[in-house]
Amino acid sequence: MEPTQVKSDKKKVVAVVGGGLVGALNACFFAKRGFEVQVYESREDIRTAKVVKGRSINLALSHRGPDGAEARGDGGEVACLFVQIVSQGIPMHARMIHSPDGKQSPIPYGKKGQFILSVDRANLNKQLLSGEKYIADGAKEHISVDLIVGCDGAFSAIRKQFLRRSRFNYSQTYIPHGYMELTMPPRDGDFAMKPHYLHIWPRNTFMMIALPNLDKTFTCTLFMPFEEFEKITTGDEVLEFFQKYFADAIPLIGADSLKRDYFRLPAQAMVSVKCSPYHIADKCVLMGDAAHAVVPFYGQGMNAGFEDCVVFDEIMDQFNEDLGVVLEEYTRVRVPDDHAIADLAMYNYIEMRAHVNSKWFLFRKVTFTRTRYHQAVKRWQWQDKVINRGLLVCGTGAVLGGSYLLFKNPPNMDKVNLDVEKMWNRLVSLGTS
Ligand SMILES: Cc1cc2nc3c(=O)[nH]c(=O)nc-3n(C[C@H](O)[C@H](O)[C@H](O)COP(=O)(O)OP(=O)(O)OC[C@H]3O[C@@H](n4cnc5c(N)ncnc54)[C@H](O)[C@@H]3O)c2cc1C
Ligand SMILES: *[C@@H]1O[C@H](CO)[C@@H](O)[C@H](O)[C@H]1NC(C)=O
Repeated sequence: MEPTQVKSDKKKVVAVVGGGLVGALNACFFAKRGFEVQVYESREDIRTAKVVKGRSINLALSHRGPDGAEARGDGGEVACLFVQIVSQGIPMHARMIHSPDGKQSPIPYGKKGQFILSVDRANLNKQLLSGEKYIADGAKEHISVDLIVGCDGAFSAIRKQFLRRSRFNYSQTYIPHGYMELTMPPRDGDFAMKPHYLHIWPRNTFMMIALPNLDKTFTCTLFMPFEEFEKITTGDEVLEFFQKYFADAIPLIGADSLKRDYFRLPAQAMVSVKCSPYHIADKCVLMGDAAHAVVPFYGQGMNAGFEDCVVFDEIMDQFNEDLGVVLEEYTRVRVPDDHAIADLAMYNYIEMRAHVNSKWFLFRKVTFTRTRYHQAVKRWQWQDKVINRGLLVCGTGAVLGGSYLLFKNPPNMDKVNLDVEKMWNRLVSLGTS
């Protein structure tokens, strides 16, 4: 018997580290290919856990994710899964802007029929994991696998192994903002606000958003610099703060719950991580937040992670599952796009708080089509008249771009200690390359 024959008969084994959203979707894709899939997750099994702790309760899911999966002719199973998820999400057809005086004005999401879904994170995770072999923490036996897929999130332990190697680029930035989640209960058995909207309270340095849940609650997320969070130390100060900035939300959340819930958990940090390459030889590859944590101001974090899985799967087809070639090609294709979405998200972080409607067409392009992120950025760079004028008039466009932002957003930028100039350099170089 030929030794090679024996080897090819054996089922390939893949270890997916991290059973979050991206790990779970990966498990589906690899299982569909006939790999033996082992999911390693450090939290308890989400399918049996009573209380699911963790980041953000619900997520905005855009069409990129589902379309990406459905585009594959043979991706039936995965597409089905998405149809199931979609049927359980709440469509948000427009944003609802809450002004300080309590006035509400809707801004639709572009063309008719385009919408974003509010999806329950825990539920989505459970569905994606159904049927997978799940190895909880504690199972520390030595294993031998053909491929390790690092999907262990923004603080990835797998990525730490990459850091010990040479020629690995890495950067991480904590933004000065934190976030806190508050629940808006149902009112008389129904949603307290109009459900088919993403509600936004833009307040310069502060911002609150609210997404609807199936149980008729809203999850409100308050984004604010850490130093502002820390200034508020008593229940009365919480009320005072809300009275000033989000007065219409007080009766909807409830003054008493507000005073209590604000102190339940400290504000959470947000980090942006970029690295390259995403693979080591034919052995290990990073996907999702492990490869690229982005700040959540473009609503694309999860979508970008899902797209990693879809693109990887396409490349697996293209190169006949030859991992040596596949992993290298995945890095080549994916790094520019993931870096572009990280930049876009960071850019939006600055813009969004003050000007909810700017760069809207770019948002639509990124959110509702599968235009590659880096191409969307490239096109945008040359379409945006105001910024272009600035760049063309002044040779040192990046500097002007930076000051343009400062000028548009004068009271807050000194507090937001970001490397705007570096970001602009990046965007400009994308536009001209
Ligand atoms: C406030 C906020 C709002 C957001 N809103 C949106 C949104 O509206 N739309 C959107 O698309 N994205 C959004 N995102 C981004 C989105 O949450 C992430 O991009 C997404 O969760 C990434 O999925 P992941 O599977 O890569 O990582 P995670 O969801 O972080 O999952 C990683 C998993 O790995 C496990 N793990 C960690 N370390 C280990 C280890 N050493 N061994 C084993 N297991 C390990 C963790 O327990 C976890 O289950 C938001 C993020 C934040 C912070
Ligand atoms: C690291 O970054 C430098 C500078 O941007 C770039 O030229 C180089 O190709 C990057 N290396 C990898 C492995 O991505």
